[in-house]
Amino acid sequence: MFTRVHQYSTNEQVRVPNVIALVGLPARGKTYISYKLCRYLNWIGIKTRAFNVGEYRRQACDFEKEGKADFFDHSNERAVRIRDECAKHAMEDMGRYLDSKKGEVAVFDATNTTRPRRKMLLDFCNREDHETKFRLFFIESVCDDPDIIDSNITEVKVNSPDYKGRMTEEQAKQDFLQRIEKYSAQYAPLCEEKDAELSFIKVINAGRSFFVHNVNGHVQSRVVYFLMNIHLLPRSIYLTRHGESEYNKIGRLGGDSPLSENGVCYAHKLRKYFEKENIQDLRIWCSQKIRVAQTANHLKDLAAHVEYWKVLDEIDAGICEGLTYEDFEARYPKQFSERDKDKYHYRYPSGESYEDLVARLEPVIMELERQSNVLVISHQATIRCILAYFDNKKREELPYLNVPLHTVIKLTPKAYSCQIEMFKFKIDAVDTYRAKPTEELPWELNGTESNLCRSP
Ligand code: SIN
Repeated sequence: MFTRVHQYSTNEQVRVPNVIALVGLPARGKTYISYKLCRYLNWIGIKTRAFNVGEYRRQACDFEKEGKADFFDHSNERAVRIRDECAKHAMEDMGRYLDSKKGEVAVFDATNTTRPRRKMLLDFCNREDHETKFRLFFIESVCDDPDIIDSNITEVKVNSPDYKGRMTEEQAKQDFLQRIEKYSAQYAPLCEEKDAELSFIKVINAGRSFFVHNVNGHVQSRVVYFLMNIHLLPRSIYLTRHGESEYNKIGRLGGDSPLSENGVCYAHKLRKYFEKENIQDLRIWCSQKIRVAQTANHLKDLAAHVEYWKVLDEIDAGICEGLTYEDFEARYPKQFSERDKDKYHYRYPSGESYEDLVARLEPVIMELERQSNVLVISHQATIRCILAYFDNKKREELPYLNVPLHTVIKLTPKAYSCQIEMFKFKIDAVDTYRAKPTEELPWELNGTESNLCRSP
């Protein structure tokens, strides 16, 4: 990986709304980057939303009736007018989102391939009628690797609402290639000299190298850090809790107890499952708790590495460690009801909250983004946090995700989503799930389309 970084110092205000604008020809993975960034920034607690100009255009006109690829020709005056209107409309919505403080970051997902369009965006961000001017950062995806472009067109673009069900895949592909040509005729890449005042990163050939210029502020640095870690290679991530423990059996929180008999049986069956999966480069990451190490011991020789991370330990229940939920309610009734009111933010006295856990797990997420096939053996709360990241769940839903014992959750990242399969093993285990009292949870995991629950 090759990286060049240009950096100037700044004396600007620290907390300002941020606009992140994509730049690049069609089929360069802009929407993929935009989806992943939104998911990551929301998960770390920065409220973010994407504004996709293609969607505004689809609302405004029928591109097939407007001449398909010819709609993107710069000499098509009517189409240019429609496209400018759509971009303005998306900018205004983005402005309302940031001005109203509903969000902190807006991702402007569009081609933005011309200097006038980028100038329009810059002027919009600097407009005096915003409460605070918006800080603008460009992410340009540059790609000349025909394999990456071809797989993007074949896997993603022919299935876009522009084409799906309206023409054959081959016709869609041909039309899309013509669209790329129309954009190429006008494309002005970001440039160190001409755009010296702007802040931007160029992501070259899906992250083989980077050019970073004039990064300004916390959000932009986080974005750069994230982009430098993600990759497109196919792989799966497996999540499981340890086998049932002695503490699980008697309903106690936390602690460091060994596996129960059922738990040992799960560890054996888990081995059989991974023997069948037959993954050559499997890495296993464990917490440092005995019940997790005992589970992992049965799989050691199937893995390229086994690593024990303290950050994968269960949420620290502080003064409630070792108590049952009944003890907790009886001894600390006020604390107990506080937790039910806002489980994500509630911090156990002398312990942690789910919010703390997300911060603790960020290095794990970043490393999962960098790696290929990984099995994470950890605990209920930690796995909820990791699952919420990959399944793009809201923070209110996160502490109630159902992660039963003796179940493998297989995550297979796709372009704009993540396929989630749950394999429930037929080995008895106590149910440690405690639903939010009185309210129905519309986001219960089992049975949703993204969660195919199967027996291995
Ligand atoms: C589109 O209409 O699909 C993309 C709009 C743009 O060029 O940004």
